[in-house]
Parts: sequence; structure tokens; C-alpha cells
Amino acid sequence: MRTSLSALARRKHGEPLSMVTAYDYTSAQLADAAGLDLILVGDSLGMVVLGYDSTLPVTLEDMIRHGRAVTRGAEHALVVVDLPFTASTDEPTILTSSARLLAETGAQSIKLEGGAYRVPAVRTLVQHGIPVMGHLGYTPQSVNTLGTRVQGRDEAAARTLIDDALALQEAGAWAVVLELVPAELAAEVTRAVDIPTIGIGAGPDTDGQVQVWHDLLGLYEDFQPRHARRFGTLGDAAREALAAYRTEVVARSFPAEENLSHMDAEVLARVTGSGPAGEGQGTSGQSTTA
Ligand code: KIV
Repeated sequence: MRTSLSALARRKHGEPLSMVTAYDYTSAQLADAAGLDLILVGDSLGMVVLGYDSTLPVTLEDMIRHGRAVTRGAEHALVVVDLPFTASTDEPTILTSSARLLAETGAQSIKLEGGAYRVPAVRTLVQHGIPVMGHLGYTPQSVNTLGTRVQGRDEAAARTLIDDALALQEAGAWAVVLELVPAELAAEVTRAVDIPTIGIGAGPDTDGQVQVWHDLLGLYEDFQPRHARRFGTLGDAAREALAAYRTEVVARSFPAEENLSHMDAEVLARVTGSGPAGEGQGTSGQSTTA
């Protein structure tokens, strides 16, 4: 049975929430089997799956396709899908795009980047029955105005971040992601709001943590963001396995006996024309015994 959104929201004062990104069916099954509370179909898929250099080119159709794959694989975890940049431009677009995301993927919540200026949109979404997870601090869709750096270090920015979190809560957001925020400020935001905060690069005192699949599993050889920890080295394992496969293909030691099937010798003889005279038929259907 799937965990309900209200049960997860109540975990504000309980066990920290565990969330990971996933972009396909098999990964969702793995995250689900590991007992993760939440799966985020993040628009980070633009970088880690589609190879773009930012999240900006990701389309609503991309999010729907990957969102669907993830919900097919996740039986227990609650699935949150990112509203991409081009679908976040104005309120009518946000509403119709979010409705499509939920209806066409079967996810339980959308995630929307941005602070107080998103209040009218969040209110409208919630009124239309669409649960919203907010996203504050470093918001990747604003990479061109924010740069990739820790947000909220000075007094004015810190105060704005707290006010933004309170405004999103007031508008009806059920949780909020805090990305690249000083640990002390993330702890303060967590104290200030009644909804769960989920941190990434925001220290240990948020109500939960989210990490990007590829960072967490160590899929990259030479890229490791400071806020992430490799809980596995699957990239090394994959590279070794692929190299071993190539070696065995070249040596003709793969496929081996256990990987193949055989056919009846008489049928084969008829197909190849090496059977008793008059019985052989070539693959073209013409007699091979003439
Ligand atoms: O798209 C994403 O992966 C995200 C996380 C970094 C929170 O928004």
C-alpha cells in the first residue's frame, strides 16, 4: 500500500523523510524496495538522463513520460514530479500542466520552484486538488540569475527565505525542499514552518533529505557535488561489467552453453539441405537437393 501524503506530512515530528530522485521503472522499483518514503521525478533528468547542461530544456512531455515509468515501478513510495521550467511561466500554464502531470503519470504531488511570487499559483493548484511541494534556496531553473551557489547567506536573503517558506505554507504547500542553504538557516526554516522541510545541501536538521540518484550511487567517475555522498560505487561496477562483457564477446567466450538454445537436428538438416536426398529445403524455399 502506498504511504499517504498526510501520513508523510505528519512525520514533521517523527522519523526523517527519505527521498531520492528516479527517472525510470527499474530505478523506482529499487528505491521502493529499499523503503524510501518519496521518489522525486526531478527535472534534473535533463542533465543526468538527457545530457543537457541545465534543467531548462526539459519539456512537460519528458516529465510525463518519465513520471509514468516511475509510478509503474513504485508501489509504496509517494511520487512527486517536477513542473519543468517551460510549464512554470504563468498561472494558467502552471495549472493545466500540473493537472496533466498528476492525471497522466499517476503521481501524488507536483514540485514547483520559487518563493512568495508563487503563492497565487500554489493556492490555485491546491484549490484544484493538486498537492504542491515547494522548492527554495538554490532553484536550478533560475541558474541563469542565481548561479550555482549557496543561497541565503546574508541577512536580507535569509529573512526572505524564511518568509518564502511561510508564504508557501500559508498558500497550502504540503512540504518544501531547501536546496544549497546554510545548515543554520535550514534549521531555522524547519523550526519556523509546520510543514516538512526536505534538504539537499542544507545540513542535518531538516525534516528529511533528498539526493540525486546518480550522485548517491556513485555513477560518475569524476563528478561529486559537495552536498552528496556516494553510498555506493555503481559507476565503477558498471564500467567493470561492461569491459568484461566486451572482452568475452571478443574472445567468443560469451554467449556460453547456458546462454543459448538448440534446435532439433532433423529440422536443422532439412533447413540446411544436409538431410537425406529429397528432403532438403533452402531458406529461400527452393529445393536444395536438385
Ligand atoms: O530535479 C531535481 O533533482 C531536484 C532535486 C535536486 C531536489 O529538484
